[in-house]
Amino acid sequence: MNFLITAGPTREPLDPVRYLSNRSSGKMGYALAEAALELGHAVTLISGPVALKAPDVAVLHRIETAQQMWETMQHLIATAPPDIAICTAAVADYRPKFPQFQKIKKDTEALTLELERTPDILGSMRSLFGYKGLLIGFAAETENFIPNAQSKLQRKGCDLIIANDVSRTDIGFDSESNQVTLCYADGRLEELPKLSKRELAIIIIQRCQK
Ligand code: CTP
Repeated sequence: MNFLITAGPTREPLDPVRYLSNRSSGKMGYALAEAALELGHAVTLISGPVALKAPDVAVLHRIETAQQMWETMQHLIATAPPDIAICTAAVADYRPKFPQFQKIKKDTEALTLELERTPDILGSMRSLFGYKGLLIGFAAETENFIPNAQSKLQRKGCDLIIANDVSRTDIGFDSESNQVTLCYADGRLEELPKLSKRELAIIIIQRCQK
C-alpha cells in the first residue's frame, strides 16, 4: 500500500530571521514512515524542519510553513492519492499576519503581533481535496482528551484519531515514548500502554493494514 505521512513542526516567519513554531521533533512521523517501510509499504513524507535523518522514503518533500505543507498535500492528493494518509505534523495554527521583509528592530518598549489562522491540512483532506482513502490524525490535548479527540475525528472526517495527552512531560512532544488511545470512527477505543515511538508506529501501521 502507499502511505503519505506529514511530520514535524511548521515554521511561520515573522521576519527574515525569526519564526513561530512548536516543540515537535518529528520523531512520531518519522517512526511511522520507518515502520511502514519495514512492513513493505511505499511511503511519501512531507516534513517540516527537523533534526532527524530522513528514512529512505520514495519521496521526501521538505517544507517550512503550514501553507507550503497544505499546497504540497493538495498537489499529491490530486496527482498521486495514497491508500493511507497519516497527519502527524504539529502544524502551527496561527501565523504572523504581516511578516516583515526586513528584520524587526527593537525600537519600541512593547510589540504586539497580529496572527491569522493557517490552513488545516487534515481538515481539508475530505472537504477540499476530496481524498477518499483511509485518513488518520493525531489529537494533541491537555484536557478532556478522549471527547476532544472524538470531536476532532468527526470534524475532520478521520477513520482513526490517535489521542495524545501532551500535558504529560514524560511522553509525546519531543520524547522517545508515547502513551495514546486509538479512537476509531465507530466509537471504539483502544488504550495502549506506554511504548517507544517505534513500537507504537508498528502497531499503528498494523491497524492500518486491517
Ligand atoms: N492538523 C493539520 N493542520 C493544521 C492543524 C492540525 O493537519 N493546521 C492535524 C494534525 O496533524 C493532527 C490533527 O490535525 O493530526 C489535530 O491536530 P491538533 O493540534 O491536535 O488539533 P487542531 O486541529 O490544531 O485543534 P486545536 O488546536 O483546537 O486542538
